[in-house]
Amino acid sequence: MMIKPVFWKNNKVVMIDQNALPLCERQLICSDYRQVITAIKDLTVRGAPAIGVAAAMGAALGALSIPAEPVEKFQKTFHAVCDEIEKSRPTARNLFWAIERMKEHLGSAILSGKKNLAGELVKEARRICAEDIEINRQIGQHGSKLISDGDHILTHCNAGALATAGYGTALGVIRTAREQGKKLHVFVDETRPVLQGARLTAWELKKEKIPATLICDNMAGFLMQQNKISKVIVGADRIVANGDTANKIGTYSLAVLAKSHRIPFYVAAPISTFDFSLKTGASIPIEERNECEVTHFKGAQSAPGGMKVYNPAFDVTPAKLISAIVTEKGIITRPYSAAIARLHKGTN
Ligand code: MRU
Repeated sequence: MMIKPVFWKNNKVVMIDQNALPLCERQLICSDYRQVITAIKDLTVRGAPAIGVAAAMGAALGALSIPAEPVEKFQKTFHAVCDEIEKSRPTARNLFWAIERMKEHLGSAILSGKKNLAGELVKEARRICAEDIEINRQIGQHGSKLISDGDHILTHCNAGALATAGYGTALGVIRTAREQGKKLHVFVDETRPVLQGARLTAWELKKEKIPATLICDNMAGFLMQQNKISKVIVGADRIVANGDTANKIGTYSLAVLAKSHRIPFYVAAPISTFDFSLKTGASIPIEERNECEVTHFKGAQSAPGGMKVYNPAFDVTPAKLISAIVTEKGIITRPYSAAIARLHKGTN
């Protein structure tokens, strides 16, 4: 059965509680947009495309709570709800993309004289969710061309079904290659500090019986040196106009290692992850998270009290280290600026 981390049911947003995985499979049901904001902040729902879907559905929940008339007041209050949602996490472009799309949809619904504006916003949020699954399947189809029978693929963090509306980006490529009958082995980085690899990617791969081995983040170089990894594939939180890519902290180190060992390093992401307004990765806002994520695990302390901590959640991999970027429109390679400009214009 398909893993669906976030969906709309009976005017509520249902999420898989990703903080409880892999030990407990339970859902969080949100009936208020503020619960969705909390769920995005505390990683109940996480991964750039899933955050986008959750944000759109949170906005739709907010819309349901706003009096329909007068329309100007409805729109103003809806925008205020959107502003609150946008403050939940700063790095994943998909969150801002989804909110912009919801605001634009409201603008056109008003212009075309639609009566049930909240209903229109619910439909749009559900469309964003359904489209994301379809887009991931397209990414899978394109990306699977990069995967050969017998590959040993390293992935970092979770860019799977759990990080999207379903199917996944980087793991979507792996899923499609498997569906095509290719024999693969996946190495899963545990992904400190909150272990999205060990908890979530390992859970997904086990569920689907895809052969996989879990490693600590600091083991990747050793495996590459021993020719145990033939490809690296990761997702993305934000890709800018020159191809620089923000993804979970530790991705940049992997890209440097891959370059040094002449191993292809691929990024898989939907166009909604691209930020065409930023020229280079230096401008990407990098989220810093609570120090407890580093000093504790599941409430158990693992560092001396009062220890100074630095906890950036993402890093930026320079475009020159990326062998190819897989999107729903196809595979792009260097020079990225021209290819990304074509994606922006919709001419790819
Ligand atoms: O902090 P997270 O778990 O939201 O970070 C997620 C990642 O970095 C993923 O690799 C990225 O969002 C791509 S998901 C398809």
